[in-house]
Amino acid sequence: MKILVTGGAGFIGSALVRYLIANTEHEVINVDKLTYAGNLASLSAVANNRRYTFSKTDICDQTLISDLLEKQRPNVIMHLAAESHVDRSIDGPGQFIQTNIIGTYTLLTCAHKYWAETLAKDPTFRFLHISTDEVYGSLSESDDPFSESTPYDPRSPYSASKASSDHLVNAWHHTYGLPTLMTNCSNNYGPYHFPEKLIPLTILNALAGKKLPVYGKGENIRDWLHVEDHVAALYKVVCRGKVGESYNIGGGNEIKNIDIVKLICTYMDELYPEKTFGSHLSLIEFVKDRPGHDFRYAIDHTKITRELGWSPSWRFEDGLRATIDWYIENQSWWQAILDKTYQGQRLGLDRK
Ligand code: NAD
Ligand code: TYD
Repeated sequence: MKILVTGGAGFIGSALVRYLIANTEHEVINVDKLTYAGNLASLSAVANNRRYTFSKTDICDQTLISDLLEKQRPNVIMHLAAESHVDRSIDGPGQFIQTNIIGTYTLLTCAHKYWAETLAKDPTFRFLHISTDEVYGSLSESDDPFSESTPYDPRSPYSASKASSDHLVNAWHHTYGLPTLMTNCSNNYGPYHFPEKLIPLTILNALAGKKLPVYGKGENIRDWLHVEDHVAALYKVVCRGKVGESYNIGGGNEIKNIDIVKLICTYMDELYPEKTFGSHLSLIEFVKDRPGHDFRYAIDHTKITRELGWSPSWRFEDGLRATIDWYIENQSWWQAILDKTYQGQRLGLDRK
């Protein structure tokens, strides 16, 4: 099988490409524009594999995407390319509209033409769209977790753009019969995570003895999923999922932000007890909240567990410690980002 992955140089996409090359016999074509978040250094383990090809291409470019599909003739498209950071969507929503909505529309248009004309509507073709639990909106502490039937209620420019793309994917299935599938997952964590997001930012700041910014009171809750558990689930969905259906993927780890930051501090104290400033806990700084900050996300993953036999394997505390160890051991990966692309500055404050 030939699998075309969009966004394969990003955090989850690169984990997926590494997983597919290491655990399957499939050929993998990685289509990525290499925005600030795209990083070929995350793919050094597969770069020279004969089953791996990279194409630096924007998913918004209809001609290039159509040509690529005709030339490569994939059996499966796994669509991960997106602008993914909520704070950046507050500062500049335009790029989110462009890539997440127009880009998904463009990819669907090209995939539909390719499937209908070149593949003569081959029923085994699959288009898997990777989305987020943020499309469901925000839960209170007592609400039930999101299920596949929870109504959409996106509240940030990021989640609104992802919700729009989800609706387009469903429309292409119902209107044109394109064999689509969708997944909506919770917050991922693990190695190769761009350091604008909570966990890698906190780890790198703690390593540097810098302040650890916690938005608001740190009471907001996310449901953390190890990226390796996530990509294993994506592969199950693409192989065995039911066309036209969506599957929620979550880690079963609901944790308040402040508790995650404290866990990171506690482990860093064990590793570096000699730090001059005392405990890393003293670095925690409560800062102005994110505008429109969703309170709680939580996923009910009963459906994918029951129907496809997937469940998360990482215990959060173990996964977090392994992630911290990975950042300590892979300084060259993140130092290059700090030197060139992003230095940990606060994003998403709506300063207008
Ligand atoms: P990421 O920001 O790390 O990577 C995105 C990748 O897409 C980058 O390699 C970037 O270069 C590429 N890209 C962006 N615009 C492009 C374009 N126009 N054409 C081609 N490539 C482009 O994102 P991620 O965290 O790996 O997320 C992957 C997918 O999973 C996204 O669709 C995101 O919405 C979804 N998701 C992520 C999370 C999470 O916790 N990270 C949670 C739920 C859903
Ligand atoms: P983030 O990693 O940006 O993911 P998302 O917004 O998609 O959930 O943020 C996770 C949580 O951590 C979110 O509630 C915002 C909060 N947060 C902080 O408290 N401090 C930070 O420096 C960042 C980046 C996020």
